[in-house]
Amino acid sequence: MTASESNRCRTAARPRLHVVAAADELASVAADVVQGCVATSLAPRLGLATGGSVAGLYGELIRRHRQEALSFAGVRAFLLDEYLGLPDSHPKAYRNVIRRLLADHVDFVPGAVAGPDASASDLEAECDRYDRLLAAGVDLQILGIGRNGHIAFNEPGSPLDSTTRVVRISEATRRDNARFFDHPDEVPRRAITEGIGTILRAAHLLLIATGESKAAALRAALEGPVAPQVPASALQLHHSVTVVADRAASAELQRPAGGR
Ligand code: GLP
Repeated sequence: MTASESNRCRTAARPRLHVVAAADELASVAADVVQGCVATSLAPRLGLATGGSVAGLYGELIRRHRQEALSFAGVRAFLLDEYLGLPDSHPKAYRNVIRRLLADHVDFVPGAVAGPDASASDLEAECDRYDRLLAAGVDLQILGIGRNGHIAFNEPGSPLDSTTRVVRISEATRRDNARFFDHPDEVPRRAITEGIGTILRAAHLLLIATGESKAAALRAALEGPVAPQVPASALQLHHSVTVVADRAASAELQRPAGGR
């Protein structure tokens, strides 16, 4: 059964929530989920996020690859989003970030990691192409969450059924992401992002949240109303979600979900 087939008859279920005390535990619990997907699917399709929250997970996957023979040779991977307007070789372009964080250190076969082509002359056509590529199914989508509740670059107000498209990055998110750039003005104003609807098509979602700055967003995502104003609240519509959060990020949750 493909990922999209297994996802067709989904009914929402409460996310499995793992609250962890330390960064290495967070990386290990999240890596178990990824390894479970990679090890059990014949041709695993993995959705990759970038950002500070997922760096520890990728470090742990690299360790398991080197020390425990975890192989990515049969895995196809798909970037969740990409900045527009950065030169191809820019170190902060997500395609280059993911190389440094993961791809260069494990055994993906050449061409196995795909992303939206930010240099395409017809961006609308590129968004459609990428969305069609993903329509074949993603087994596991890794996600971070923004302080304003965004997922990928789906900012507050994004339609819950949105598909891959060009978006404006909010000033709040530009400020948050400025820490990765030499100067705040360097942060691009636009991106290509998988839509919320695109993300929800994955068979399983893995959300990672760290730090107190994410606490309000995580509560709104998991316990607030499902609404475009909090894009991550769309996770409540999915039947199979794992959330791995540290204590600071989970501090505002009222109702512990399953898995804790
Ligand atoms: C960016 C990315 C998102 C990511 C978010 C949180 O805006 N587009 O995919 O989830 O930042 O990033 P961080 O983990 O660095 O807080």
